[in-house]
Amino acid sequence: MTKKLLALMGSERRHRSTENFLDIFIEEKFKDFDVKKIILKDLSFSNCISCYGCAKVPRCVVKDDMTDIYPLIDNSDVVIFASPIYFNSVSALSKSFIDRMQLYWSRKFLRKEVLPKNKLGFGLFVGGAPLTDQQFLGAELVLKHFFMAIGTKKYTYLELSDTDKREVQKTEEILTYINKHFEENSLYESIS
Ligand SMILES: Cc1cc2nc3c(=O)[nH]c(=O)nc-3n(C[C@H](O)[C@H](O)[C@H](O)COP(=O)(O)O)c2cc1C
Repeated sequence: MTKKLLALMGSERRHRSTENFLDIFIEEKFKDFDVKKIILKDLSFSNCISCYGCAKVPRCVVKDDMTDIYPLIDNSDVVIFASPIYFNSVSALSKSFIDRMQLYWSRKFLRKEVLPKNKLGFGLFVGGAPLTDQQFLGAELVLKHFFMAIGTKKYTYLELSDTDKREVQKTEEILTYINKHFEENSLYESIS
């Protein structure tokens, strides 16, 4: 059966480094997947309002565009989250989306449900500045919790720096980076 891939694009800008990276990655490695790409800025959704409605019923009680996103997450085999680095973390748009995953946390830790851990997760980050030691650390921590919440069995990150000087385009360098990551990471074995 064709595997389902959910691609989440968390940049404020269309067709710039974050989205280009996402598109190149999908085209290069997930050609045969059933791909659903969501542009987060096209959604209309609230921040998590900390109502803990999801502790009382096993769903998010806030009714907005996120209502249709949860089934897409639940039914996916692979989730790719692409975000630019803003102030050493994911964009506010991405973080607001991720906070709405509190539903899964509540179901696991408050409602004591056993949820499946059956997905693969990929965090794609682009940072405008030249590479520094902790450039991606904040984003990695946020995405780690996202991937744990939605039930990934394994996840990994792909990261590109210096994108303010060198906007992400389909170059040999980027393809080599993606393919090297692919070769060196056992996580891909379950999808290839
Ligand atoms: C509000 C804001 C904060 C940013 N903070 C960082 C940062 O902390 N580190 C970094 O490397 N780049 C930072 N950047 C640069 C972006 O990561 C870079 O421009 C990236 O390419 C944006 O993604 P896009 O091309 O998809 O819009 C920031 C940009 C903005 C707008």
